Amino acid sequence: MPSPVPVLTIDGPSGAGKGTVSRLAAMRLGWHYLDSGALYRAVGVAASWADLDLSDPAALVRCTFDTAIEFHDGPAGLRVLVNGTDATDELRLETTGTLASAIAAIPEVRAALKERQRAFRREPGLVADGRDMGTVIFPDATAKVFLTASAEERARRRHNQLKEKGVSVTFDGLLREILARDARDAQRAVAPLKPADDAILIDTTGLSIDEVVDRVLALVPARTD
Ligand code: C5P
Repeated sequence: MPSPVPVLTIDGPSGAGKGTVSRLAAMRLGWHYLDSGALYRAVGVAASWADLDLSDPAALVRCTFDTAIEFHDGPAGLRVLVNGTDATDELRLETTGTLASAIAAIPEVRAALKERQRAFRREPGLVADGRDMGTVIFPDATAKVFLTASAEERARRRHNQLKEKGVSVTFDGLLREILARDARDAQRAVAPLKPADDAILIDTTGLSIDEVVDRVLALVPARTD
């Protein structure tokens, strides 16, 4: 029997460096990449475009099924189209993250996105980045990593990123948002943010991106078939 397509899962709280580390790891392995947070963000954006009531789970579940989400890798990086419209910039907004986190607490929304996420598992392999990649979506993953970093460090990184983009936000405000989002993600009843029992924890505080990527890749066994 052929061995299943290998998957490396990288979970952790927002700002731990998952996105950058996952993209670089996927590039070095020559594997596909799933940014599962972008799916939740895309549903959030579609819901806000449609002016949906966030306290109406049925409407949000319908919206999850109806929203077309496409990823395009181009010279300007990964672009995300939501219902045919380029929503890449709107997707990265802090307000979209908060919206995504509220929507992600609805069990039927999570269920509706399950198969879409699993469809990314294709040869020669997949690096999947999110909150429940190792626990719920790919429990049989080849290697599982849980990245952490202190909340202050995560707020500092995010602050620097936004400053570079010319977006003005206060450090304290960012730290508050990060702590609130962590709490919501960790406390929700379905697929709460927590490391899989067999995940390797890496604290990225004080480590360079390259050091983290090297540590992560050292966990991926070479394929023998
Ligand atoms: O990773 P990112 O910050 O883009 O995710 C946005 C939000 O989507 C998270 O705060 C979380 O609530 C939700 N999410 C999730 N499960 C995932 C990925 C993201 O619940 N696998």
